[in-house]
Amino acid sequence: MMPNKQRADLTFKDNVKRGRHGWVRLTPAYSVKIVQQILIENPNIQSILEPFSGTGTTGLVAAQSGLQCDLLDINPFLVWLARVKCANYETEQLKRMREAASVILEQAKELHHENDLWQPPINHIERWWSDGRLHTLSKIFHVLHQEFPTPSPEKDLLLIAFCRLIMRWSNAAFNHQSMSFKKAVHQLQMFDEEETIYQSFLDDVTRISQAANEAITGIINVFLHDSRQVMLNGDKRYDAVITSPPYVNRMSYIRELRPYMYWLGYLKKAREAGELDWQAIGGTWGIATSRLNDWQPDDTADNIPQLKSIVDEIAQSSEVLSRYVHKYFADIAAHFANLNQVVKPGGKLYYIIGNSKFYDTLVPVEQIYADLMEQHGFIDVQIKTIRKRNSKKELYEFLVSAQKPR
Ligand SMILES: C[S@@+](CC[C@H](N)C(=O)[O-])C[C@H]1O[C@@H](n2cnc3c(N)ncnc32)[C@H](O)[C@@H]1O
Repeated sequence: MMPNKQRADLTFKDNVKRGRHGWVRLTPAYSVKIVQQILIENPNIQSILEPFSGTGTTGLVAAQSGLQCDLLDINPFLVWLARVKCANYETEQLKRMREAASVILEQAKELHHENDLWQPPINHIERWWSDGRLHTLSKIFHVLHQEFPTPSPEKDLLLIAFCRLIMRWSNAAFNHQSMSFKKAVHQLQMFDEEETIYQSFLDDVTRISQAANEAITGIINVFLHDSRQVMLNGDKRYDAVITSPPYVNRMSYIRELRPYMYWLGYLKKAREAGELDWQAIGGTWGIATSRLNDWQPDDTADNIPQLKSIVDEIAQSSEVLSRYVHKYFADIAAHFANLNQVVKPGGKLYYIIGNSKFYDTLVPVEQIYADLMEQHGFIDVQIKTIRKRNSKKELYEFLVSAQKPR
């Protein structure tokens, strides 16, 4: 029977209050609990591959459980984030970071050559931050870089605090499945907003420092990698692949991550966001959508039995969405094609994935994943329904699991 509860405790929402897990949010992040449960049920898992690491949830659970985990993601900001979340920090470094935060704020308050300050080249920046807030954020950012001109663990942690700050003081709203903008609120001049922004930075620095003090016992490596290709790391083989790949729902990670990526220098021009999303499976931001019009399917997805009828049916309503779904499965099929090589005999796959609906066509994503696993030599393939996703009654999240023969 299908569970009809939405189970917010099994989504990113539950991670927010869990120390390092809550440092920077990403709506499609999955829940810590799901990974913990898999590890509790499989105490033999020592080495894990996470091919779509996102904010590094799998990696951090592995890190905190003393396991070994290689994380891959195509987005360089997320690679940085996962590295920072899964690293060990010395008490001295944390002390220096807290002291530096106070110095940064003192100097920011004193900054007067205000018009020269760098601002991120993000389109329609006024939709994200009011002039006053943007100005305060630019001052903090400027001094942070003056104090730390080169990369260091202290700087990484301060940048995490800065990421939290820019989102907290932005007009972004996360009431929906993806992000939208709040209506511009006229700021009441009754309180000193600049001072409140500084204070919230300090509060975050304290919280981040506390969470960073936790000793990490696992061994975590994070790589910038396109998981449509297999990543052979010497002759390393994994006990398990635990992941939640992109969903086929036109949700763009870039959309939500843009503010961080522009401030931290991972994006410099709007076009780059579209280019990166075109590389990402299921990406649809900017140029990525127009590229779909030129995309020609090769034979990668030919062995997916249901796909042709699904794609034909969606094409009756929208050619571009039909291509979107087709390309998504061609990319996922490429990912599964060589996965077998990196899993140990007897090793397990755990994929958390949601199904989708385009017009009247329900796409049984979980079933297609199960078929792909079987086609590529995995056995004991199982589909377990985890939770109902949103108000559309047919949308669920599933755990698709399988095993490589011994
Ligand atoms: C559903 S999210 C993963 C969320 C993650 N479980 C977490 O808790 O944060 C999927 C991730 O896959 C990444 N991705 C998309 N296409 C990729 C590709 N071709 N290779 C590697 N990573 C990719 C995206 O950047 C995104 O971070």
